[in-house]
Amino acid sequence: MCGIVGIIGQGGATETLVQGLKKLEYRGYDSAGIFIHNTETDYLIKSVGRIAHLEEKLAPEIDGTMGIGHTRWATHGKPTEENAHPHQSSDGRFVLVHNGVIENYQELKQLLSKGVLGEDCTDTQIVVELISQLVAQHQLDAKEGLRQVLTLIKGSYAFALVDKKNPEAIYLAKNKSPLLIGVGEDFHGCCSDAMAMIEKTNQFVEIKDGEIVVLTKSSYQIESLAGEKVERAPYTAELDSQDLEKGTYEHYMLKEMEEQPAVIRRILSKYLDEHGNLTISKEVLDQLKASDRIYIVACGTSYHAGLVGKKLFETLTHIPTEVHIASEFGYHMPLLTKSPFFIFLSQSGETADSRQVLVQVADRYPTLTMTNTPGSTLSREASHTLLLHAGPEIAVASTKAYTAQLAVLAILANVLGQSLQNELALSFDLAHELSLVASGLEEVMAEKGQFEELAKEVISDQAHAFYIGRGLDYYVALEAALKLKEISYVHCEGYAAGELKHGPIALIENETPVIALLTEASTLDHTRGNMKEVESRGARVISLVSEQYATEQDTIVLPKVHSLLTPLITVLPTQYLAYYTSLNRGLDVDKPRNLAKSVTVE
Ligand code: F6R
Repeated sequence: MCGIVGIIGQGGATETLVQGLKKLEYRGYDSAGIFIHNTETDYLIKSVGRIAHLEEKLAPEIDGTMGIGHTRWATHGKPTEENAHPHQSSDGRFVLVHNGVIENYQELKQLLSKGVLGEDCTDTQIVVELISQLVAQHQLDAKEGLRQVLTLIKGSYAFALVDKKNPEAIYLAKNKSPLLIGVGEDFHGCCSDAMAMIEKTNQFVEIKDGEIVVLTKSSYQIESLAGEKVERAPYTAELDSQDLEKGTYEHYMLKEMEEQPAVIRRILSKYLDEHGNLTISKEVLDQLKASDRIYIVACGTSYHAGLVGKKLFETLTHIPTEVHIASEFGYHMPLLTKSPFFIFLSQSGETADSRQVLVQVADRYPTLTMTNTPGSTLSREASHTLLLHAGPEIAVASTKAYTAQLAVLAILANVLGQSLQNELALSFDLAHELSLVASGLEEVMAEKGQFEELAKEVISDQAHAFYIGRGLDYYVALEAALKLKEISYVHCEGYAAGELKHGPIALIENETPVIALLTEASTLDHTRGNMKEVESRGARVISLVSEQYATEQDTIVLPKVHSLLTPLITVLPTQYLAYYTSLNRGLDVDKPRNLAKSVTVE
């Protein structure tokens, strides 16, 4: 996590950094800081909390033609002003911002002169101190000092370094953490995500692991750690700066939730060919057909989408499918079959937990990343990419990326199933069914007032809640519970409805909200029985039911869609419930505490 932005060559650097950091705030918001240089002087300003707090400290004279900035998600060291980046070496010469975690920081600390840093210094402070020390001891230039330190570091990093003795350059390097060069007419910049600079340029250059970059006003020079020059041309980032604004919405989360019908229609338009058929590249299909098992690896909301993916693959292709939490899979790998095919689900395409698995399997097996972020690390490092086309997701809580993942998983499963002559896949008019989903979502949106009321009456004052369901409804219950807890801080469990009576029913008290999802004919009666069990123990039961199964007693009736696509509909009410509960509790919906959107540490 953490976000980095830098610029060299253009006046108004402070504004560029602040605006860029605001766009990167989704990566962490524990503290922020900027270093600014102008011909007269320089400034190092830091603040705990959001960029808005930093902004309050920025007097108009704090401006220049060069600077680096950082927004932090604390890993080593508390989120204090002292620990905020940029960090300056004790001799005042070097200034560094860092995204990542240096694993051997204790070892590196031993290389420093005794007492130069305190006991509780952070990994970044150690790195900038070491650069400064090596430069001073061996009369190196900044690039050489950085290079030597890079050869000693174990861990993940994106660095932007300034040498105040030569403020005509910014030095960059990365390993595992993202960092791009921004190319403008009269400036160069750097950023963790193209979003941070898209208002200044749409030309970006990728930096690869193990490269060092020297940015000046008029050039960018890339070289390998061994000193070989690398030529790399810019690419055009297809990002619309309008997509990054909230428009008339109060929160990004609400905007992104209500974009879901449009996202599904956009996905259809991207995956339909000129004959109106959904398509996936032959190479991907051939490799999947040759595989004996699909392994879906992901984290958080993407993991929950993967669970639905398992149902889709097994139903439409008959290829056995396993779904794994990336941080578990990487270190406790199950016995793999002979011909596995790996699918990585990642909205950001930068999640370190997922990436460490990809790194382990990419050389041996075919891999595919399903991501919302073209050019992201997981996309570049997998053999194939399928894009989600959801548009930038800024709210920390993932909503539209989840539905986009379900839609693209369904497309992949169905096209594969058809090429395997699976009968169900052959008779499944998925494009039509997905358009019905898009319309169904609009119907749910039109009735959002009922979720606002339920959130207020039933959930907002409670400390605990449950979502229950079976089959696909259980998978959505897991996602629904995650959404509620992460943005409203109501402790919520997603439970298999039938499993509640095996223990957790002991937690049911008067007024405990239990929200039941009912979209599956074969388990409907059993789940209704489970609702009665908790109701008779005082729970406040809310039911979200597909229209064909609804009775007068049900709370919310949902539009009927194909039985394999119900999660795309049921999830929306649960997103609304989380959203309104968070609002009622006076919380920051888009930036819940302790979180960051792009989790680039393991
Ligand atoms: C929850 C949420 C997270 C992410 C998880 C994986 O709302 O957004 O649980 O789903 O951190 O992120 P990606 O999909 O970017 O790999």
